[in-house]
Amino acid sequence: MAAETHFTYDFIGEILITQKEIEDRVSALGELLTNHYKDSEKLLLLGLLRGSVMFITDLMRKIQRPLTMDFMSVSSYSGVASSGFVRIDSDHKTNIHGWDVILVDDIVDTGYTIHTVRKLLLDRKPRSLRVCALLDKIEKHKVDIQIDYCGFEIPDYFVVGYGLDIDEKGRNLPYIASVDLAKYNKN
Ligand code: IMP
Ligand code: MG
Repeated sequence: MAAETHFTYDFIGEILITQKEIEDRVSALGELLTNHYKDSEKLLLLGLLRGSVMFITDLMRKIQRPLTMDFMSVSSYSGVASSGFVRIDSDHKTNIHGWDVILVDDIVDTGYTIHTVRKLLLDRKPRSLRVCALLDKIEKHKVDIQIDYCGFEIPDYFVVGYGLDIDEKGRNLPYIASVDLAKYNKN
């Protein structure tokens, strides 16, 4: 058998959340959601592409309820800075009227993305709407938002891994790690 490889990127700083910690937390969130939505007949996990893909696919397997999944694609970031302007690049397909919607994102930074998408979704009259984010940089919020289910609160680092990227790189790491911006900028 081939030796286990320890692939990484040369711009990685430190590992902040291990694969095991992510697995355990996702399982706990799945249990919580199973419980909170036990009376729901129309449960939709609505993920924001592309950062939430790993999280949503792991999370859905831990929810012991009938559910469906859909995606939207939005952008607000270029490089490591939030532009504050949120653009809808592609919309979800499901008619969410009357559905219990859980908006799933990888990370909340300024909060503009969740704030904007939440308002848009509420206009579409779901039965309920809650927000689930794997990571929350709570000290960076610029708008008042409520994250109903949060995986981990993290300090103000730029992070990659488990679906999160820096200019599309780093998504395939199985853990969450900080980016060493000095090293990154040299590349
Ligand atoms: P917000 O609108 O400022 O809250 O930004 C949210 C979006 O920015 C997230 O959905 C991510 O796509 C991206 N983002 C914010 N911080 C990070 C980070 O540290 N690493 C990777 N992506 C990030
Ligand atoms: Mg995102």
